[in-house]
Amino acid sequence: MDREEILNKVPIFAGLNRRHLKRLSKLMVPRSFKTGEAIVQEKDQPAGFFVITSGKVEVVRGGAGGKPQVLATLGPGEFFGEMALFEGQARSATVRTLEDTDCLVMTGWDFRAELSTDAEIAMAVLETVVRRLRELEARVTE
Ligand code: CMP
Repeated sequence: MDREEILNKVPIFAGLNRRHLKRLSKLMVPRSFKTGEAIVQEKDQPAGFFVITSGKVEVVRGGAGGKPQVLATLGPGEFFGEMALFEGQARSATVRTLEDTDCLVMTGWDFRAELSTDAEIAMAVLETVVRRLRELEARVTE
């Protein structure tokens, strides 16, 4: 599968036309990670936005002194790394691979530029972020 076909299967990019997919695919670089690798480390400064193309990761918060908490597990078609880029802050959590994982990565600069020029992508990212917040809230208030 080429990069455009992969992106076409990612929910936040679904519905984009061929030309747009081609442009996006040029902005995204494939990267592979081994099982147990921390792709993103809590409190680090952000660099990129990640879309998982295969494999599985867990999102973990805390750990230094306390008990680490698993916030979510994410798989193919899902993304992470948007929060720190939106906020201009450090990473909110660590994202660690549970199996060998392939991603497409976009720089923070390109991510912000895409979202400011494309309301459809921005809405799709926002919908996912809000859904994740609801899932977390539901767990906290259980
Ligand atoms: P960021 O803060 O840049 O780096 C860690 C990432 O973990 C974060 O962006 C989100 O993409 C992801 N993340 C943080 N909290 C949650 C959550 N509750 N559910 C799913 N993903 C999360």
